[in-house]
Amino acid sequence: MRTDTPQTIYRSDYTPPSYLVDTVELGFDLDPTRTVVANRLTLRRNPDSAQREIELYGEDIELVALRLNGRLLQEGDYAVNGSLLTIPNTPEEATLEIETLCVPEQNTTLSGLYTSNGNFFTQCEAEGFRRITYFPDRPDVMATYTVMLRANKERYPVLLSNGNLLEEGDLADGRHYAKWEDPFKKPSYLFALVAAQLVCQEETFRLADGRDALLQVWVEEGNLDKTDYAMQSLKHSIRWDEERYGLELDLDRFMIVATSDFNMGAMENKGLNIFNTKFVLANPRVATDIDFQGIEAVVAHEYFHNWTGNRVTCRDWFQLSLKEGLTVFRDQEFTSDMIGTELGRAVTRIDQVRTLRQAQFPEDAGPMAHPVRPDSFVEINNFYTVTVYEKGAEVVRMYQTLLGREGFRKGMDLYFERHDEQAVTCDDFRLAMADAGGRDFTQFERWYSQAGTPQLRFETRYDEAAQTYDITLFQSCPATPGQPTKLPFHIPVAVGLLDRAGRDMPLTVDGKDMGTTAVLELLEERQTFVFTGVTEQPVASVLRDFSAPVILQGGYTDADLLHLFNHDSDPVNRWEAGQRLAMGRLLKLTGETAVDAKLSLDDTFIEAMRRMLVDESLDPAFREQALLLPSETMIAEQLSEVDPLSVHVARQFMRANIGAALRTELMAQYQANLTPGPYSPDAASAGKRALKNLALSYLNAAPDEETIALAARQCVDADNMTDRAAALSTLIHARAPEAEAELARFYDEFQGEALVVDKWFAMQASAPTTDIAKVRELMRHPAFNLRNPNRARSLVANYCMNNAVQFHAPNGSGYLFWAEHVTLLDGLNPQVAARLARAMDRWRRFTPSLQVHMKTALQQVAGQQRLSNDVREVVTKALAN
Ligand code: TRP
Ligand code: ZN
Repeated sequence: MRTDTPQTIYRSDYTPPSYLVDTVELGFDLDPTRTVVANRLTLRRNPDSAQREIELYGEDIELVALRLNGRLLQEGDYAVNGSLLTIPNTPEEATLEIETLCVPEQNTTLSGLYTSNGNFFTQCEAEGFRRITYFPDRPDVMATYTVMLRANKERYPVLLSNGNLLEEGDLADGRHYAKWEDPFKKPSYLFALVAAQLVCQEETFRLADGRDALLQVWVEEGNLDKTDYAMQSLKHSIRWDEERYGLELDLDRFMIVATSDFNMGAMENKGLNIFNTKFVLANPRVATDIDFQGIEAVVAHEYFHNWTGNRVTCRDWFQLSLKEGLTVFRDQEFTSDMIGTELGRAVTRIDQVRTLRQAQFPEDAGPMAHPVRPDSFVEINNFYTVTVYEKGAEVVRMYQTLLGREGFRKGMDLYFERHDEQAVTCDDFRLAMADAGGRDFTQFERWYSQAGTPQLRFETRYDEAAQTYDITLFQSCPATPGQPTKLPFHIPVAVGLLDRAGRDMPLTVDGKDMGTTAVLELLEERQTFVFTGVTEQPVASVLRDFSAPVILQGGYTDADLLHLFNHDSDPVNRWEAGQRLAMGRLLKLTGETAVDAKLSLDDTFIEAMRRMLVDESLDPAFREQALLLPSETMIAEQLSEVDPLSVHVARQFMRANIGAALRTELMAQYQANLTPGPYSPDAASAGKRALKNLALSYLNAAPDEETIALAARQCVDADNMTDRAAALSTLIHARAPEAEAELARFYDEFQGEALVVDKWFAMQASAPTTDIAKVRELMRHPAFNLRNPNRARSLVANYCMNNAVQFHAPNGSGYLFWAEHVTLLDGLNPQVAARLARAMDRWRRFTPSLQVHMKTALQQVAGQQRLSNDVREVVTKALAN
């Protein structure tokens, strides 16, 4: 752990690397207590750099020997400053031979080379390669790699690295070796190795050009009954990228390896993707519909990186969204295409909007707000954020909205034509889109450089005599840290007009026929668009399909919203109207709760919900989305001062009201959406289960013997994890007497399945019945282990981020628990600790009495002498004015 003062790195300080690397040969003698790494690299001076020294980075490794063109360097021949090793007076061309030592079993950071269940794995993004060997560890240094792995054969029968296997064989003393070669140039962050006791599901798959590729999914013995879905997803992903973008797998072999100790979801190492088990292992007994969806999306995401990230990579880490925003957009489109139906697409789009509102808008409004392409950072690991990923994907989506699908594809083709095997910037991507489409995207650049969520407002005016309808759009963007004022964004605003009967009206703007949805391009702070030939007063449906990542304020009456909720042909805005109807009431209820007023809910709203619930013309998946209320976090984001208890009580009141008022219909929908027969994770079946389980939870928001019996029965009868977990969670939230015994039975049955034990912890951590004493008791459970990120997140992070009522207990006990565990985790794994630290991001918005305790807890962490850069950056920014 570094204890020196953290340094801020600026995007504007970028300079090209002093030396380029052509080839890297790595030799590993793998031993958990002492691994020897031999690295031979050939370098040549970069003509684009004025600098003459060779610069290498190394962290937490011991330098044994360093040779330059065969000559052993002495201490005075090079300088070490923190993690930077500089060799001056170096020739035009150089061969460096570097020998280092590391201790994988003591590496709890899960960055670099580490062991998990006794097996070796690596994680190099963003700056983990320097924890394996000294290297110019920056993404604009791309080289070809040859890797020799040596290890004990019995203990580590499987030896994997990037690319193709050249040869393997036995060595003396029970050891063996494998030699791998990656034919493509790559940055060091894409290097990977695995040395392990694993088994695989494999098959050959015919690619579009007729070549056969070997596909493998590697897991621990005993998990081969959970690899089918990941393999299916991989094949679907390969096909989809061929068909939609004309992009083919460029290797003969593609491997996915699962590990239970992993900081994030998965990693796109060239030809050797390494995954968190959570995004590989699934069968109906242990995984929910959401888990299956997650696997399909993450397998696709990592596979798609092979082109967007690996073949074309980032010049520097400020450009992270170049690969992440684009690849998230690609996996989102893949998910939509896999469902196929129009309403199915809308349901996935709604999921994306929810994620933005739940996580990205709060980030954009908090102390860690940053542009999609940040200007500075202390620790790059803190910038793998919902802004870079999800808002970045929205930015990419806007190109497609502006250019159309075909235009976007042309832009992608031009991007690869220009930049294959290069390390480039977000500007290069934007220019490819602009040039391919013949458009000026100069102003569009502000989506990359300005942080904060733009706010959009509209005013309308109908002129009956002239048959015109004006929409005036206004935009503004709040100040964010370091950016007090903002310039107008280039915002595509998709608009439709509904007539009195709820039908789409044909649209004409500037004499141009715009179909029934017009994409208006807002470039100024304020702009008026005139629709002509409008024969009656319409209701506007603004921001269809959520055409830009903005907050659309006001502009609608309740009557407008009901009209849209009943009729809008754009399913996303139809859903949105329901969310607005609910939000208006939730905010009112929250206010009333705070002053102990008597709560009530109007019939109009209940009736709208009733109609939606029973509308058999709509897919169950869509109805489930439409009936699900905005989360407590989303409600809190609308308030200037948050009392989490009021928000919770208000939302629960509304849920209980819906549950009681719609009891008959909910019971009927519960029965109508049962999925008898063998489980299948397909979207239609999952949609039915989602609606059925939402009905169950509404019924138990106003529980009685009958509703509890229904949940208890489902818990016992369920033949799949989706239904089992939903029923158990419902029992817990209903405070049913059966909950305890069912929790015990659940643990007994699944204690051998780590991912299910995570669910068991998570369910309890987020239950409003779990107070600080209970969470501390769970921490002492023999299955709890702070070192395993999935387990730490299941209990600690869920309590701090998903249990608002208990975490914000008035005595500050939740915050002290947070401070204690951020500190403890920081000593083990700074990346995981820093993510937990973000639970306090929005502390300044809470009731003053809570703020006092939150500030104390933040200061307690900030006051620690030994703190990683990761956590230091988060708490410093939270405390800054
Ligand atoms: N690039 C990976 C992805 O988007 C995520 C990633 C970045 C990662 N840094 C990491 C994964 C560190 C594990 C550990 O899929
Ligand atoms: Zn990614």
